[in-house]
Amino acid sequence: MIKDRGDLERAAAAWREEQKKCGLKVLICAGTGCVAGGSMEVYRRIKELVEAEGLNTLVDLDKHGDSKKIRVSPSGCHGFCEMGPIVRIEPKGIFYTKVKPEDAEDIVEITLKKGEVIDRLLYRHPVTGERYIEEENMPFYKKQKRNVLKNCGRINPEDIFEYIGNNGYHALAKVLTEMTPEGVCQIINKANLRGRGGGGFPAGIKWDSVRKENSEIKYVVCNGDEGDPGAFMDRSIMEGDPHRVLEGMLIAGYASGAKEGYIYVRAEYPLAVKRLQKAVKQAREHGLLGENILSTGFSFDIKINKGAGAFVCGEGSALTASIEGNRGMPRTKPPRTVQAGLWGKPTLLNNVETFANVPDIIINGAEWFLGMGTPNSPGTKAFALTGNIVNTGLIEVPMGITLREIIYDIGGGIPGGKEFKAVQIGGPSGGCLTKKHMDLPLDFDSLEKAGAMIGSGGLVVMDEDACMVEVARFFMDFTQKESCGKCVPCREGTKRMLEILERIVSGNGTMEDIELLEELAITVKTGSLCGLGKTAANPVLTTLKYFGDEYLAHVKEKKCPAGVCRALKGYSIDPEKCKGCSKCSKVCPVNAITGKIKQAFTIDREKCIKCGACVSTCPFNAVEEG
Ligand SMILES: Cc1cc2nc3c(=O)[nH]c(=O)nc-3n(C[C@H](O)[C@H](O)[C@H](O)COP(=O)(O)O)c2cc1C
Ligand code: SF4
Ligand code: SF4
Repeated sequence: MIKDRGDLERAAAAWREEQKKCGLKVLICAGTGCVAGGSMEVYRRIKELVEAEGLNTLVDLDKHGDSKKIRVSPSGCHGFCEMGPIVRIEPKGIFYTKVKPEDAEDIVEITLKKGEVIDRLLYRHPVTGERYIEEENMPFYKKQKRNVLKNCGRINPEDIFEYIGNNGYHALAKVLTEMTPEGVCQIINKANLRGRGGGGFPAGIKWDSVRKENSEIKYVVCNGDEGDPGAFMDRSIMEGDPHRVLEGMLIAGYASGAKEGYIYVRAEYPLAVKRLQKAVKQAREHGLLGENILSTGFSFDIKINKGAGAFVCGEGSALTASIEGNRGMPRTKPPRTVQAGLWGKPTLLNNVETFANVPDIIINGAEWFLGMGTPNSPGTKAFALTGNIVNTGLIEVPMGITLREIIYDIGGGIPGGKEFKAVQIGGPSGGCLTKKHMDLPLDFDSLEKAGAMIGSGGLVVMDEDACMVEVARFFMDFTQKESCGKCVPCREGTKRMLEILERIVSGNGTMEDIELLEELAITVKTGSLCGLGKTAANPVLTTLKYFGDEYLAHVKEKKCPAGVCRALKGYSIDPEKCKGCSKCSKVCPVNAITGKIKQAFTIDREKCIKCGACVSTCPFNAVEEG
């Protein structure tokens, strides 16, 4: 039981002392990506071998003859999911990638016993071929600034003392013993911490509004719904460093005068739910949640609420309705959540990453936070990098970094030597950015000006083979299905927009359709009740703005320039390349290809059923798709 600040400091010191006895620490990534890749089997094999040889108790590894322990432990996500399962060996920081259970023996024999590095398990740069031993030197990590993710991959998320030993709960102790609730709000305000859930609203203003509300009962709610396709930042924080989220919420509770907190986490994140539940249990057992925390008179407890996986439930008022047991539908504002949120009481609602930023701001001060990022968007942002990119994974970068740095320096560029075409930022609420935005600083305001938004931080990279009309159709299909149906512009508008986009990709679109699509997009944006409808048009509007020629090609020429839209695909034979061998006409199931031997053959596009058999059969690459 940690009864006061002194106890907390002693617990941290004891953990650090214990670490000194540890010669080597083997951290095996237990994030969702690595677990899916078999990392828990790797963990079991290494642990078994270490135990079988008695290495976990005493082993002579130190050059000076000291006997040191080896600790084998699961960890949170390192972010480099592409290279998983990942094993990190401290203190040297040796970083092994794509580790299989069969590698366990070599890791124990060669690295743990002899202290040597296994070359084949090191990360190898796909272009330069250079091998990297430590994580810190790898291009994927070099431009990152890991604050909220700093413990992910470094500590065992299921052990509260690992968090405490790394200064965890020290910010809580500081606010409870040295600061007033008003002072806490002031520091968050001064740091200009803006909500990481997408909107970028200043957290300090929100916290102070709840603080000023005159109510006996107030709530703190953490939004861990993360419904955007392609996003997994919040999941990694909840899985990899759950106590950081709890600490941020506890500090918010103290600052706002709330005694109860809820974490709303989607049920599709079972590992995050499990780790959060374990963290809450441990924090309660050790007196960091519950009554009279650290003997300061402050009481606060947290409940975990599993969401049912509807995108709209991430919207603040729908989320509180869902926690109350009602259907998750947004409501009109005012009253705002800060005045009347959960059960009609003043409620402080923030995103997972927003809360995770709080402990370090308290410990290091507002100036430290303002020293990163841009003046109006300070700090860092976690992004989930996916799509046509060499290094997919989770990254944390200073706000204001450019797309070019993210895509080429961190992401390693586009695979297969293909050209970059666009990036969809912020999921269905965001928009598409293009080559011309390569040097745009990624911050709240610059993105808004470009018609997009950071959203929760999903970055889906697309290469030259992507059809931007199809991309707009994909996102419209998503938002239309996720619309709660409460208000007409969103319910009907998204449906009509989807119908138009479907007409265009199937080759039946008209010029009037494009005009109507734009008109509807603006109506839905302006007339919808909540953010889902208000932002649903963003992928359409940005693709119309930046890739208008692709819409025109689909409508006027009945062509899909990227060759994606099946209905618009057509085949033709290049007479220059065709040798008249007749192989294609023999495989065509509908006799669409005719010609004379040793003369160029032709395809009847009316008859062609677009099976593609002729393309793969032609030995001279004479059949063209387009
Ligand atoms: C349709 C919709 C879905 C949303 N989904 C999320 C979500 O998954 N996570 C989140 O933090 N915020 C989400 N938001 C934003 C929240 O309404 C709210 O602004 C945010 O949780 C506040 O926290 P922040 O200020 O720390 O960003 C969503 C908003 C809308 C309109
Ligand atoms: S905008 Fe869409 S999701 Fe939001 S309340 Fe209206 S119908 Fe529901
Ligand atoms: S795509 Fe199929 S149907 Fe069309 S011409 Fe080639 S082989 Fe015939």
